[in-house]
Amino acid sequence: MKKILVTGGLGYIGSHTVVELQKSDFQVIIVDNLSNSSIDVLEGITNISKTPPRFERLDLRLKADVSDFFKRNKDIEGIIHFAASKAVGESVENPLLYYENNLNTLIYLLQECNAYGINNFIFSSSCTVYGEPDSLPITEDAQIKIATSPYGNTKQISEEILKDTCSVSELMAIALRYFNPIGAHETAEIGELPAGVPQNLVPFITQTAAGVRKELSIFGTDYPTEDGSCIRDYIHVVDLARAHVVALQRLLSKNTPAVDNHNYEVFNLGTGRGSSVLEVVNSFEKTTGQKLNYKKVGRRVGDVISVYADTKKANEILGWKTEKTMEEALLSAWKWEQKVRGID
Ligand code: NAD
Ligand code: WQD
Repeated sequence: MKKILVTGGLGYIGSHTVVELQKSDFQVIIVDNLSNSSIDVLEGITNISKTPPRFERLDLRLKADVSDFFKRNKDIEGIIHFAASKAVGESVENPLLYYENNLNTLIYLLQECNAYGINNFIFSSSCTVYGEPDSLPITEDAQIKIATSPYGNTKQISEEILKDTCSVSELMAIALRYFNPIGAHETAEIGELPAGVPQNLVPFITQTAAGVRKELSIFGTDYPTEDGSCIRDYIHVVDLARAHVVALQRLLSKNTPAVDNHNYEVFNLGTGRGSSVLEVVNSFEKTTGQKLNYKKVGRRVGDVISVYADTKKANEILGWKTEKTMEEALLSAWKWEQKVRGID
């Protein structure tokens, strides 16, 4: 069994990916500092897979602790690096926190990869690197726009760091640019656990339906789109998680040593379909039977109008495509919210 390190593996996307890795017979070791997750997620993962993953509490900003971890775990064959801070607004208020947490952690991990010959690395990037796209759907070779937030900038810089490192070492890396992940595991054992007031649409919807929030604000209905609200590519988190397994298998099956930038690849992970905010709200109401309290308000600063993925590269090269529908994603998100809130 190949041993894979999953950083941030108790987080939203990480936990779902751990389950998929275990399903595909990988041995998983999770490190997380619990800054945006709970230790209870371990139990959720174990309830699904019946196999407790190994876990170590580790803050990847602490270089000496990271070195010590690798000294004790020399048999790691691949790394999936989820650990990062991800709140766009917070990154504007506290850029240094974001540059430290998102860049230092990556650099320390890559230094250990060099030291121990770990050559398989998967990185969580984001569609935020595209900014407001010039054309849709967005392909991987679309122009990278100047980042509109320190968070977005950390993803752009991280991709550069990976590309440069791959070009001078044996490292093979894949950066996965996620579009908008939503939903939860169908068992409702794991899901998204936003800290404080959710910034993202779907957790705000489910918390409103659960009565935790009074009403949902629809940010902007005067955009140049069919119904006036913004368009995004919402992807079921389990589909997203599966893509990591496929990407990892691609890296592990390549046994040729790295010689050039071909050892660095980027893939969009989305459904290829754009949905408006109002469509998501309507779909939630229809699928769950829950009436949502919402109001239309002004635009949110920094929102792009319309973003959805061209998924051809991931479909053809990774042989991966999404299988789950928006309805399944919203239903699973609602089932998870009900469980968290103790609603029958
Ligand atoms: P998350 O916050 O749920 O998970 C991240 C995990 O990393 C958390 O468990 C947190 O405790 C841990 N962590 C953070 N800093 C750490 C550190 N210094 N040391 C150890 N652990 C640390 O976030 P997520 O939604 O699962 O996102 C995972 C990755 O995907 C992130 O890199 C994020 O930027 C990226 N991403 C997320 C989205 C999204 O909408 N959720 C979209 C695009 C990209
Ligand atoms: C989706 C749509 C909002 C909340 C963010 C990050 C991006 C990436 C994914 C990490 C928008 C609207 C939202 C609400 C609303 N993350 N909305 N009312 O903005 O596409 O992307 O998450 O890399 O970097 O910026 O996602 O879920 O916040 O918003 O009307 O209460 O829902 O205006 O049109 P976004 P989101």
